[in-house]
Amino acid sequence: MAQRLDSTGLTFRQDYFSDPAGWAALVCLLKDIFGIDIGPLQQLGGPDPTSMPFGWFDAEGEVAANISAFALPFVLNGRIVHAAGLQSGAVRPPWRGRGLYRDVTVKALDWCDRQGFEAVILYTDKPSLYEAYGFRAIPLHRYEGTAPAPSTPAALARPLLPTHAEDLARLQSLLKGRSPISTSLAVTVNAAMFLINTRLDPDIRISVLEDRQAVIAWKIDEAGRFSLLDVVAAEIPPLAAILSGLKIAPAFVEVLFRPDKLGWEGAPQPLESGTRLMLRGLGDATPIFPAMLSPMAEF
Ligand SMILES: CC(C)(COP(=O)(O)OP(=O)(O)OC[C@H]1O[C@@H](n2cnc3c(N)ncnc32)[C@H](O)[C@@H]1OP(=O)(O)O)[C@@H](O)C(=O)NCCC(=O)NCCS
Repeated sequence: MAQRLDSTGLTFRQDYFSDPAGWAALVCLLKDIFGIDIGPLQQLGGPDPTSMPFGWFDAEGEVAANISAFALPFVLNGRIVHAAGLQSGAVRPPWRGRGLYRDVTVKALDWCDRQGFEAVILYTDKPSLYEAYGFRAIPLHRYEGTAPAPSTPAALARPLLPTHAEDLARLQSLLKGRSPISTSLAVTVNAAMFLINTRLDPDIRISVLEDRQAVIAWKIDEAGRFSLLDVVAAEIPPLAAILSGLKIAPAFVEVLFRPDKLGWEGAPQPLESGTRLMLRGLGDATPIFPAMLSPMAEF
């Protein structure tokens, strides 16, 4: 157990994203530790402008340890919670066990408290790492059920390519004006995560239903199993219109958020695998109805 901080040979930097070398060093850390590349965010409108990274840098300019906070307002049980998210938490192997992660976590949480955030959320595969700071895991549920009868669409959906300037601008404008996808649990904006998530999983399809002014994030597997990941729109279209617009007629559907705005009911299924969503603050609040944050909001 690391009781004291040993930061010999390292320099602490906060709020360093405006320095291209600092940003590049974080991209490199996340590639090395998690195998994910957030570099393309620069072509997708840049990192979340509210980001506040806390990092220890070595003499070569590499990030040895980091955690980043950012504003992440979300809806919980019908109310908007003024929350922050924590992401990009990692320490390079040679620097582990020196208290560096505890140090950046405490700094980030202090910053969140000083900013007046009423809650902090994060995803992790190591829940015990955060329990000491007052985080608790929130149970997550997806929904499954038979598909609704198709409705006649005014127009068919077309694929939207965030790498194309016009499509990116359209998506960014819809993200700005979106309604939360559920009244139980949903982010309110979080454009940067939606955009980078379109790049991190090649199976995610992004389609636009122009007549509904809605962007649909979805997947379909080889067996024809349809998963709805997210809908970006000021007014959420019914699931029947989404399926008709996508011109697909699956027997079963899976919805990866509470479908209370979709005009469709499925059965909630607990999410057993994957990372856990953890919440700090708000007493013992938890979603009243089974719910989850859309995977497009995952960070
Ligand atoms: C998890 C990780 C960040 C810990 O880094 P570290 O520099 O060794 O952490 P510290 O020395 O600051 O230790 C902080 C605390 O976490 C505990 N800890 C370390 N690794 C842990 C693990 N895998 N699971 C649970 N607790 C852990 C330490 O015992 C210490 O507890 P203490 O404050 O009671 O003394 C690092 O191993 C890592 O980057 N792993 C890969 C990426 C990752 O898992 N990121 C975080 C999860 S989202």
